Amino acid sequence: MTITRSNEARRESKAPTPPPAPAATLVIFGATGDLTHRLLMPSLIYMTSAGLVDDGLQVIGLGRSDLDDEAFRNSFEQFAGEAGGEGAGWQKDPAHLASWRRLRGRIRYRRGDFGDAQTFEELKADLVGASAANVVFYLATAPELFGPVAEQLAKAGLLKEEAGFRRLAVEKPFGHDLASAEALNRKLLGLIDESQIYRVDHFLGKETVQNIMVARFANTLIEAVWNAHYIDHVQITAAETVDVGRRGEFYDAAGALRDMVPNHLFQLLAMVCMEPPNSFDAEAVRNEKAKVFRAIRGPRLGKVAQAAVRGVYTAGEVGGNSVGDYRKADGIAADSRTETYVALKLFVDSWRWAGVPFYLRTGKAMSHRDTEVVVVFKPVPFAQFRGTDIAKLPPNRLVIQIQPDEGMALDFSAKRPGPAIDTAPVRMRFRYADQFELAASTGYETLLYDLLLGDQTLFQRADGVESAWRAVQPILDAWAAGGEPEPYAAGTAGPDAADRLLASDGRQWHELGS
Ligand code: BG6
Repeated sequence: MTITRSNEARRESKAPTPPPAPAATLVIFGATGDLTHRLLMPSLIYMTSAGLVDDGLQVIGLGRSDLDDEAFRNSFEQFAGEAGGEGAGWQKDPAHLASWRRLRGRIRYRRGDFGDAQTFEELKADLVGASAANVVFYLATAPELFGPVAEQLAKAGLLKEEAGFRRLAVEKPFGHDLASAEALNRKLLGLIDESQIYRVDHFLGKETVQNIMVARFANTLIEAVWNAHYIDHVQITAAETVDVGRRGEFYDAAGALRDMVPNHLFQLLAMVCMEPPNSFDAEAVRNEKAKVFRAIRGPRLGKVAQAAVRGVYTAGEVGGNSVGDYRKADGIAADSRTETYVALKLFVDSWRWAGVPFYLRTGKAMSHRDTEVVVVFKPVPFAQFRGTDIAKLPPNRLVIQIQPDEGMALDFSAKRPGPAIDTAPVRMRFRYADQFELAASTGYETLLYDLLLGDQTLFQRADGVESAWRAVQPILDAWAAGGEPEPYAAGTAGPDAADRLLASDGRQWHELGS
């Protein structure tokens, strides 16, 4: 995370461009997959346009498909042409097309079996020349291959830092429970140093997620009321309209809790809850976040039913399109008990947050796409309104809109014009799109840039990942032991039990999409 300062928002609506990353080779394992096509390659194109990488960057893709360099390069053009939407925007802009042409010739492809030492010996032979002193190995494979690929890289001597750096980027999911995450950490840390491991959580690449830190620590106004004295509760939501799509096999083995909570939602939680770090250095920030992860108190086994809700979508309509029943989707077992929605209540046991409930929810096939943090402040004492018509004032609320329509809004009460004292809820709003010139991005650019620069601030550390799994493990255990998710129709805001979770505390969810 590169820190610079721009005082005049409109005139300097773009942050100054930092220097290009050092010359390096990016080796992508699982290069024919969705992640590379949808996110990694478009990010490299956008980074080229923005001057964040230059001609010193070489890319080697490894996969099992039988392709040559040219067919591999063509596959990105074809994907962008067919995909539309995410990851395809670069083809419509002449500047990005020029960046692609510049990058294209430095992309190579190697067919390989990731279990075969020969693949890694061949890779070693490929890693020659000035750009190969520094190498990032990016694991965009199926998660069960993370350990074996790292092992083969180590065996071939490819992780040894001699002339330059050797870094390993590990995609999500990092384990599927506490034990497997611990085992993977043990395996990796037996091969390389923590300083070489970059555990990716793409939520940390989102501008609005990084902005939570800036909003808090660059503004007295927010930080002054950011504690249990003033805050009643916090809601963290990642609602998606997409259904399980073609990811059935992966998703049915994971479910909404594993897929979203100990990683993405906890990253948001950590940004909201962490104490101010001494600096924005990776270790200073990650130390503060680690304290939050350790302080998370979710339900204990035996108390899970009171604090966690699971749901599964049934047939319905999302944005005018019909969505089928989850259990009838491709790759899903007809008797699946996997949840596509989860809501939970937890606490962060620290001085600052003592007694403040945090309500988290995430789901697929919901009515709106809406990722947000809603901080609800305590009500005013009301004494001064005694004897007036004002029975109740809505609480102040700070809504941090992560996506879409990135920004922040503050809800408060104002006097309605007229002779009587009457109040009306009003909203003050900051939208990124109004204030800044937003460059095309996939959200991976900062992550890839930091990876090449060697800045681990926006990556997860071993202890953080394990504490996060530890906090949700009782829920995973309780759900594995029995019970079923509660159905909700696709296109709604989730199961009724999620509303009851808040209603029993006298609260309600912030309306999706508002
Ligand atoms: C991924 C999950 O990590 O994040 C997906 O595996 C989910 O299930 C996605 O859809 C959400 O990311 P974003 O950036 O679209 O909010």
